[in-house]
Amino acid sequence: MKAVVFHGSEVGLKVEDIPVPSVGTDQILVKVAACGVCHTDLHYIEHGVPTFKKPPIVLGHEASGIIEQIGKAVTNVAVGDRVVIPAVLTCGKCSLCRMGRENICADMQMLGNHFNGAYAEYVAVPAKDVVALPDSIPLEAASIIADAVSTPYHAVKNRARVQPGDSVVIFGCGGVGINAVQLAAAAGGYVIAVDISERKLEWAKEFGASETINPSSVERVSKEVKKRTGGGADIAIEIIGNPRTIEEAFECVRIGGRLCVVGYTQEKISLVAGKIMFKEIEIVGSLGCRPLDYVPLIRLVAQGKVNVERVVTHRFKLEEIEKAFEAMKEGVSLRSIVVP
Ligand code: APR
Repeated sequence: MKAVVFHGSEVGLKVEDIPVPSVGTDQILVKVAACGVCHTDLHYIEHGVPTFKKPPIVLGHEASGIIEQIGKAVTNVAVGDRVVIPAVLTCGKCSLCRMGRENICADMQMLGNHFNGAYAEYVAVPAKDVVALPDSIPLEAASIIADAVSTPYHAVKNRARVQPGDSVVIFGCGGVGINAVQLAAAAGGYVIAVDISERKLEWAKEFGASETINPSSVERVSKEVKKRTGGGADIAIEIIGNPRTIEEAFECVRIGGRLCVVGYTQEKISLVAGKIMFKEIEIVGSLGCRPLDYVPLIRLVAQGKVNVERVVTHRFKLEEIEKAFEAMKEGVSLRSIVVP
């Protein structure tokens, strides 16, 4: 089968012919319909963040497809089922999984990181983790539910805990951030979207942002947010992974407000500790999504309250994957998918 193999940051990506993965007793083989192209892959390819499985490894962790084959012990799904494969697979046995916090499972395995991912014609995954998709949701665009939509779903609902009427500043309206915009708006939040790209801000408005801020057009984003909200936003969510924007997002929240960090960076941030104490600011991280959240999330997509089709602005063949990363870097795509 054809697959995009990552050979480490020196060599980069190569499209190769590799064997179709064999299916273990508890596994299924999924014929990949599409795999979303995520900024996280750029961390491996360009920024030296190591994958858990040493290269060569097939990247790609945001996939949907049709079950082609099932392992001997599999009973929960059948050949022909349409499924989304969550980006992170959980052990179901550790204390965090047992507490219902599977998204921070002590033994989590990420597709295209711990084992071969879905920039390929086929991928083998444990049967217990996949989520059934109703026929009403288009299969290819549904791939982005696996991360670009599920990650902000958990962030908005469970970590930032957006309530109707909350003012919510969202830093970063890329592939993940734009879905935080539509999910926070669907939750009744008053969304102020922040991005350096005017095109992304236009999209943010289309997806439910009430206001937008381009940092280049104001003296300081936090000052502007305080002016517009009368003292600071109830909630700020950072979905870029830049230490400076995490610090700025912190400055945006009101006394008693909440900062939720979704963007990934290895670098340190600098915050005035006294502000956390005096203002009783809550700072939470958010990683991925719990298995139990996929059912209500897919319902929101089926209802049309969350639109996945419009988020997918570009489609590429496996051989064209570099073009998808170029489009991401140039800021012209919202979310690209690779269609094997
Ligand atoms: N201020 C405001 N917006 C910015 C800034 C900045 N200083 N720098 C970048 N951006 C915007 C970009 O214009 C883009 O719209 O942030 C967005 C990032 O989007 P993508 O590149 O599409 O990245 P995405 O896949 O959404 O991932 C964002 O979330 O899950 C994590 O690892 C992921 O850290 C990454 C983050």
